[in-house]
Amino acid sequence: MDTKLTVDIEAISQVAERIKASTRVVVLTGAGISQESGVPTFRGADGLWQSFRAEDLATPEAFQRDPVLVWQWYDWRRSLIKPLEPNPGHYALVELEKRIPGLTLVTQNVDGLHRAAGSRDPIEMHGTIWRVRCLECKNTFENRTVPITILPKCEACDGLLRPDVVWFGESLNEEILHTIYTYLQKAQVVLIVGTSAMVQPAASFGMVAKRTAGAFVVELNRSRTHQSPLFDISIQGNAGELLPRIVDCIGP
Ligand code: APR
Repeated sequence: MDTKLTVDIEAISQVAERIKASTRVVVLTGAGISQESGVPTFRGADGLWQSFRAEDLATPEAFQRDPVLVWQWYDWRRSLIKPLEPNPGHYALVELEKRIPGLTLVTQNVDGLHRAAGSRDPIEMHGTIWRVRCLECKNTFENRTVPITILPKCEACDGLLRPDVVWFGESLNEEILHTIYTYLQKAQVVLIVGTSAMVQPAASFGMVAKRTAGAFVVELNRSRTHQSPLFDISIQGNAGELLPRIVDCIGP
């Protein structure tokens, strides 16, 4: 008998029951959910931060020092992501929000794949790689042009455009953060999918919901993380397999 599979099925049905009995669910996703679509993750053996230095490419200082280099890196990532499609994990979350109208999806990902899958209104807490922001007039514009002209300039004022993402050392949009905490403080279930939980503030969302709302916190990850022991259940596996199984178990 395959004990692991048995344990997983039990855990999956326990998670499904909890979700089914809840009206307020928060899902937090990280790079792991897009891994099966072909988007590289950041940490781990094949992670981007193994081959690139975040401080050279994903900080405001890096952009000030060498905007051409930073834009070349973002242009490479945009060209890599553009042809990719959502995977069964993204689609399962679309199904889940149909069944649980009080579901809030928060993602750290900037790849746009939750929207591409059809998620209603994902909170993209780290911004999106498909939007640019003018350093002068502060306007933001959707931009999906690949390759992008380097250096891209603002159509309104000719100022320098930057990717509208949150870099290391930058604060998150306060309104967005306030909205997320409001949902966490009322959550009955929090699903934490495919994140190494190394970057704040997202890394503490599970515990915030547990402490303030007594939420049942579930981790779905290919590997155990340093936070796995803190959660009610941690299920190891691919998001693209686990999420559809949970949704199937919840039923129509
Ligand atoms: N299914 C489930 N989990 C997976 C899968 C998969 N198919 N593939 C990888 N994982 C897990 C890994 O085990 C790891 O724990 O996803 C996690 C990815 O972790 P990171 O690469 O650190 O990504 P993330 O947690 O989203 O990073 C947070 O760091 O550099 C910044 O701004 C960037 O938003 C990003 C933030």
